[in-house]
Amino acid sequence: MNYQSGIGKRRMDSYEHINVKPMTVNVGSEISGVDLRQPSPHAASEIKRALIDRKVLVFHDQELTPHQYKDFMQIFGTPVKEDMDVDAGHPPEVGAIHIRPDERQRINFWHMDHSFRDLPTPVLALYARLLPPVGGDTLFTSLEAAYDGLSERMKSAVEGLTCYHRVTTTQNTKRRHTKEEAEAMAKAPPVVHPLVGLNPDNGRRFLFVNVPIYCRSIVEMPTAGGDALLKKLYQHVQRPEFHVRVVWQENTVVIWENVHCLHYPVADYFPHERKLWRVVIDATDRPKAA
Ligand SMILES: [Fe+2]
Repeated sequence: MNYQSGIGKRRMDSYEHINVKPMTVNVGSEISGVDLRQPSPHAASEIKRALIDRKVLVFHDQELTPHQYKDFMQIFGTPVKEDMDVDAGHPPEVGAIHIRPDERQRINFWHMDHSFRDLPTPVLALYARLLPPVGGDTLFTSLEAAYDGLSERMKSAVEGLTCYHRVTTTQNTKRRHTKEEAEAMAKAPPVVHPLVGLNPDNGRRFLFVNVPIYCRSIVEMPTAGGDALLKKLYQHVQRPEFHVRVVWQENTVVIWENVHCLHYPVADYFPHERKLWRVVIDATDRPKAA
């Protein structure tokens, strides 16, 4: 089966203020020729367009203070106050994703952040501050490419379906919430999202699945058959044809469309330390059904 969508080539020649180098056919580009401390309005506009087209943007060698990082991210919307730890003196919108030498990264599975919210986070960014000597890469998979890669029979099977999404306890829960808050969240009713979404920015469909601990079941198929279909789709989106692997360097910034991608933090660097600064862009829209 041919999983090459070819999308992305359409605009590949139309960038004049930034360099856009695709990392794979379906997802991810390295962006160069721009200083994120002071992008021109034209460069900022092309970066936004490149994100819609490529889903994941990688910028190497960026020297940003936490305030400059937050200011740059405002081209994508409003950064929200972080619920993760924030380093002393940093703006509250810049969180520290810090795996210390005595702990292991445990969220090493394909997932999307916050799909259990009515308004899932649209855009996320990470900025590498402290890295292990090797390892600790992050993988991303395009849910748009994954939809395009479904067979026609499978596209018909998923048409019009919706899924229950619900929060679950993870490694980060205790850092973000009290025990009482976590229990209240776990009891909240699930959120329903379309299984096939439509990205209004480019008209493409995307397969809105997430790890089973968040994406619980298909509303219209509360059966073992429904669960098996969801499992099959979650496996499908993990095909290497749809993903890109980011190898971090010191001062690398990665920005991605959270709702149109899953990501996988590779947990291979224990007992080394890793710290990334995160910025989360506020959500303003519910995912639209195709
Ligand atoms: Fe995540």
